[in-house]
Parts: sequence; C-alpha cells; structure tokens
Amino acid sequence: MLDLKQFGIDMWSDEKIFSFRKKLLVWYDNNKRDLPWRRSRDPYHIWVSEIMLQQTRVDTVIPYYKRFLEWFPTVENLADAPAERLLKAWEGLGYYSRVRNMQAAAQQIMTEFGGQFPNSYEEISSLKGIGPYTAGAISSIAFNLPEPAVDGNVMRVLARLFEVNHDIGNPSNRKIFQAMMEILIDPKRPGDFNQALMDLGSDIESPVNPRPEESPVKEFSAAYQNGTMDRYPIKAPKKKPIPIYLNALVVQNKDGKFLLEKNESEKLLAGFWHFPLIEVNDFSQEEEIDLFHQVSEESIYFGPSPKESFQQDYDLEVNWMDYQFEQIKHVFSHRKWHVRILAGQVNDFHEFQDREVSWLSPEEFKDYPFAKPQQKIWQAYQRSGLYDSQA
Ligand code: ADE
Repeated sequence: MLDLKQFGIDMWSDEKIFSFRKKLLVWYDNNKRDLPWRRSRDPYHIWVSEIMLQQTRVDTVIPYYKRFLEWFPTVENLADAPAERLLKAWEGLGYYSRVRNMQAAAQQIMTEFGGQFPNSYEEISSLKGIGPYTAGAISSIAFNLPEPAVDGNVMRVLARLFEVNHDIGNPSNRKIFQAMMEILIDPKRPGDFNQALMDLGSDIESPVNPRPEESPVKEFSAAYQNGTMDRYPIKAPKKKPIPIYLNALVVQNKDGKFLLEKNESEKLLAGFWHFPLIEVNDFSQEEEIDLFHQVSEESIYFGPSPKESFQQDYDLEVNWMDYQFEQIKHVFSHRKWHVRILAGQVNDFHEFQDREVSWLSPEEFKDYPFAKPQQKIWQAYQRSGLYDSQA
C-alpha cells in the first residue's frame, strides 16, 4: 500500500472517515441526479454509460445512451454489430477507438466468458479498452465491489479535501488518489460513494464557478477551511494542439448528389465517410495562426492548388462557386483542424469503381457515419444557402 505521508497527505482518523461517508451518502440520497443508467444494475448498461461519460457531458450522453441500447440491447448484439452501424451509433461523440474497443470487448465476453459479463475487477480489467477507472466504476456500481473509480472529478474533490500538492493532470499521480480512495470508499455502498463524488465534482465542486459554500462536506475540506480553494487542484496547463489546415471539397453533381468517400486508413476516423479533404502541403507551424486568412494562396501551396488536385485525382471538371464559407474549426485531442470549404458543381460525372467513393444524396447521409467535422461542414454548406433541399 502506498505511503500517503510520503506525498504530504495526512489521512483522516477512522472516526472522521466514517462521518465523511455518512455525510456524503446522505447528501447523495437526497440530491442524486435521476439518470437512466442509475435505474439499472446491469453491467452492460453501466459500461456503455461510463464509456460515453468519459468524453461527454451527462445531458449529451442521455440520448446516445438510450439509442445505443435500443440498437444493441445485449452484449451479443454489440459483438455482432456491423461496423457502419456501430460508428453511426457513436457519431458526434468522438474518440471512436472507444466504440471499436467496446465491440472487441463484447466479442471477448462472448468467447472468453461464455456471454456472461465478468464479475471481478481483474476479469473486467482484462477487457479491451477498460482501464482502472471504468473497471472501478463497473465493479462498484454493478457488482457492489469496493473498488474506487478515480476520474478528473474525483481527483479535484480529493485534491481540495486534502490540499494535495500533486498535479492531477500527470497520469503518474493517479496512484495517489487511488490509494486515498481505497481508504475512504464506503465498503457497504461503494457504487454510490463513487457516484456521489462524481456528482459533487461535476456540480458544486466544478472546475469553473465552484460553490464551495454549498458543499455537504465543506467542514472536511482542508482547502475550504484554510481559504486555499483557488489553489486546488494543482493542474499544469495543457499543451496546445497542433494546427492542421485542410480544404474540404463539397462537390455536387447535376442529380443533386454529393461526392463522399470512406476513410480506409487505420488511423483516427477510420471507417467514416467524408467530403474529400486536401491538406495544405507540409506546412507545420509552431504557433497557431489563421493560415487561410493571413497567408496568400500562392504561398500556401507548393504544388497544385486543392481545386486542381481534386480535379486531377477524381477526374472531374468542376464549376467552382465563388462563395466564402466560414472556416470550420474542430479540436481532436492533440490536433486542431482548420477547414476551408470549397464548393462546386459538375455536369459530367462518372461513378467510381475501385475506391470507396460514392455520390450520395443528403437523404442517404443518415445511413453513413460522419465524424463531427464533416457534420459541421455540411451544416455550414446548408447555412450558405447554396444547397436547396427542395430542388
Ligand atoms: N460521470 C462518469 N460516470 C458517472 C456516473 N456514473 N454518474 C455521474 N457522472 C458520471
């Protein structure tokens, strides 16, 4: 067991721990949010909710969660889901490797565990994509096992309670919070204890505009008592994401269909459909600048312009529209996309045989997964007034 003293943490006495648990759980019983996954103890349901909640706010997750379980009501359905349908279910949530890992884990449950969701922390941890947080959440909420579920919210609450002087953004410090939770967690109601801290952390103890006066456990909080709330948690600023500059080519044929292609790479966004994208050649910038606006056309492109490249690559003659779209920006974890939209129309067109490239009507879009930046591109195109849905 980790020696918390070494990390400058004075753990409370047993009496104080008991009274903390009691205070927190009474508050939780009276204030807990009524969330759909809290009406279930099914580990599959808890798992789906926890993976979604790792990346998105509760309000956004609720409709995704419900739809996901309608489409894939059992682990077996998830294991067998077609890739396109799976990505469609996750469309807009981002971090798509998570849902791919979920499917791999569902297949593991079918083959290694006879279709039964495993019920020990170790076995749950052996599933693809399930790390200590998710394993702790499923173990405690679905199986009532005394396992901590340490996420950013929980670390923030603990950092204030104990004035923890270690960066919560540094993954190697997670073990400190894990060790604290192993002592603090209520062995009788571990799932509620974990969720109470999550609720506290996402509302009263939120990163911006906390309301410490309202905290049910303020008399336990060293930072509150010492007037050091604004110092905790310690968190080093994040590195800026790398800017990537792309042109998106929104090209419509005379049947009103748009040219889209499937991303076949193994990387980010594999399997998604997108408007053709052409990256600005080899341009790397330390500082983020508004490249598309501050630098002239000629100095950006060392080879053919994106319009020329597009015509060559797809063997199409395009009438480009003279319209300035708003720029689309989208942040992935380490990258920030700046997308300029170029729109055009073609009269003569051909079908594409050998590549995953298709002309699709907007009515067909609902059957194809589109990642968030593509949705933003399509929305900007619709807002431009160039697209007449009645035509
Ligand atoms: N965030 C992550 N998991 C959660 C849960 N079970 N309840 C509330 N917020 C959460």
